[in-house]
Amino acid sequence: MSKITAIHHINIQISDRQQTREWYERVLGAEFLDRGPALNKRQLQLRIGTGEIHTSETEKIIDVPRVHFAIEVENWDEMLAHLDSVGVSYSRSAGGSFAPGGGGDDPYHGQREDTGEHYTYINDPDGNLIELVCHPLGLESSQSDQIALAQDEKNVRWTQIPGFVEEANAATAKASV
Ligand SMILES: [Fe+2]
Repeated sequence: MSKITAIHHINIQISDRQQTREWYERVLGAEFLDRGPALNKRQLQLRIGTGEIHTSETEKIIDVPRVHFAIEVENWDEMLAHLDSVGVSYSRSAGGSFAPGGGGDDPYHGQREDTGEHYTYINDPDGNLIELVCHPLGLESSQSDQIALAQDEKNVRWTQIPGFVEEANAATAKASV
């Protein structure tokens, strides 16, 4: 068996692509991944942090209690202020889905005892539950060295075949003439 190196993407149910794209860009700073016309038509994909969010459009979202994904936030106070400014509510218990547990008694966010991890929960427009976490002590290797996630100014992305999107766009433009 080959070693697994990362979770590449999560796939969420959505009802409206534009609504989802707009919300994830505005609230979480996600980036639309341009795969060229054919692939874009097949699925909306977004980059968020070092991972990707892929989407499945469905007329009826199946709500599964407590199922969620979690994303790491660089600056906790900045993120909470941002959520306040864009009017997205957050809750330590995910609206009562989870028992409050330890880590203080603030109903809006908590801090876990083992890592000092800050956490709270939000919902996207389709009700997908998202946990926001922030580890103030950072990330360490097996040798206990502090390490950083791979990122650059605009963050990392999986390499596309050079020119693929440009050629796909040009072929579509030519076909529509
Ligand atoms: Fe979680």
